[in-house]
Amino acid sequence: MFFAPVVLSFALASVKLVAAQNSTASNNTALGIEAIEAHFSQAGLVPSLLATFNPSAVLTLSYSGVGDVSPGQALTQQQVQPVPGLSVTPANSSVEISGTYTIVMADAGPVGTDESQGQTRHWLVNGATISNGSSPLNVSTDSGVAITKYGGPAPAAGSGPHRYAILLFAQPNSFKAPDGLNTAGTPISVFNLQDYVKNSGLGAVVAGTYITVANGADNSSIPATSAVVSSTLSAPQATGSGNSTTKASGSGSGSSGAPSPTGSSSAAGMTIASVQNVFIAALAGLFFL
Ligand SMILES: *[C@@H]1O[C@H](CO)[C@@H](O)[C@H](O)[C@H]1NC(C)=O
Ligand SMILES: *[C@@H]1O[C@H](CO)[C@@H](O)[C@H](O)[C@H]1NC(C)=O
Ligand SMILES: *[C@@H]1O[C@H](CO)[C@@H](O)[C@H](O)[C@H]1NC(C)=O
Ligand SMILES: *[C@@H]1O[C@H](CO)[C@@H](O)[C@H](O)[C@H]1NC(C)=O
Ligand SMILES: *[C@@H]1O[C@H](CO)[C@@H](O)[C@H](O)[C@H]1NC(C)=O
Ligand SMILES: *[C@@H]1O[C@H](CO)[C@@H](O)[C@H](O)[C@H]1NC(C)=O
Ligand SMILES: *[C@@H]1O[C@H](CO)[C@@H](O)[C@H](O)[C@H]1NC(C)=O
Repeated sequence: MFFAPVVLSFALASVKLVAAQNSTASNNTALGIEAIEAHFSQAGLVPSLLATFNPSAVLTLSYSGVGDVSPGQALTQQQVQPVPGLSVTPANSSVEISGTYTIVMADAGPVGTDESQGQTRHWLVNGATISNGSSPLNVSTDSGVAITKYGGPAPAAGSGPHRYAILLFAQPNSFKAPDGLNTAGTPISVFNLQDYVKNSGLGAVVAGTYITVANGADNSSIPATSAVVSSTLSAPQATGSGNSTTKASGSGSGSSGAPSPTGSSSAAGMTIASVQNVFIAALAGLFFL
């Protein structure tokens, strides 16, 4: 049930990347935007968490002790405890970065999670500002109002690799924080991202990325679908250098944070995690062409 859409979106992603490479050969920002769009589709975040995702900037997430994180990178619970740094690189000079923004980190659970059940909200800042200078532009994560202070991911043991989306929304003047999420220091809880965006009048997602964090040993084996995926990607894969990121093996005991509602098949999540690794390897290859 998962495999057909995965392979399809994967094939589309490959086409998009090749096109991006052809027309904007040396533009890593343009490629970065194509890549993150492909990542969100391929990881199932679009359309289930976000109906659409057309960012106008690349979001760079950085954890102390880890450095800059690549889209979908698997991190351990320990690695994601500090408040991360965020910066944005606009797609081009006509993208205006000004005004206020809302930062959200939401646990979309393992691949296949029914997002209509909501997401655990690990971070929610209204009124964040972005430095006005040379790229990359720093997001001031301690400006604005921390409705929910950053709380590092702590998925339930054995619930598989959870996808944590970090999103930067334009926050227009007409934005109004909805009841229940209008007070600084509101604890981590489950909310519904799409309802929040709709009810508060938030603008478009300007930039976003995601990470994966699992709690417990990942003892899945490479699934049979990998052959299909390899052939889909044969050209970029052949030139790919560099290894993909490895799976998380976070085993620390959880600290803050309630687990998200867990999804259906964690086996499907594993499959997609390995698909994603091939994808990242292929992408790395493109950058080195
Ligand atoms: C792709 O690259 C080829 C050769 O450089 C060029 O002729 C063609 O116009 C490019 N296509 C696009 C869509 O940029
Ligand atoms: C700049 O980037 C935005 C967002 O990706 C895009 O919609 C727009 O067409 C781009 N403008 C130019 C002049 O390239
Ligand atoms: C790359 O993006 C920049 C803006 O960030 C733009 O000015 C430039 O024309 C782009 N280069 C190419 C080769 O598309
Ligand atoms: C910085 O802010 C000023 C005033 O708000 C604005 O005119 C200018 O275009 C901004 N520069 C950049 C690079 O966004
Ligand atoms: C962004 O933050 C880094 C580290 O704090 C700093 O070195 C850099 O100058 C900042 N960049 C801008 C554009 O403010
Ligand atoms: C993983 O291994 C542990 C112990 O070795 C076992 O209890 C668990 O059921 C395994 N999980 C899966 C998904 O195979
Ligand atoms: C690739 O991974 C293998 C095993 O994990 C490692 O031995 C090798 O050094 C890696 N190669 C690169 C280029 O990172």
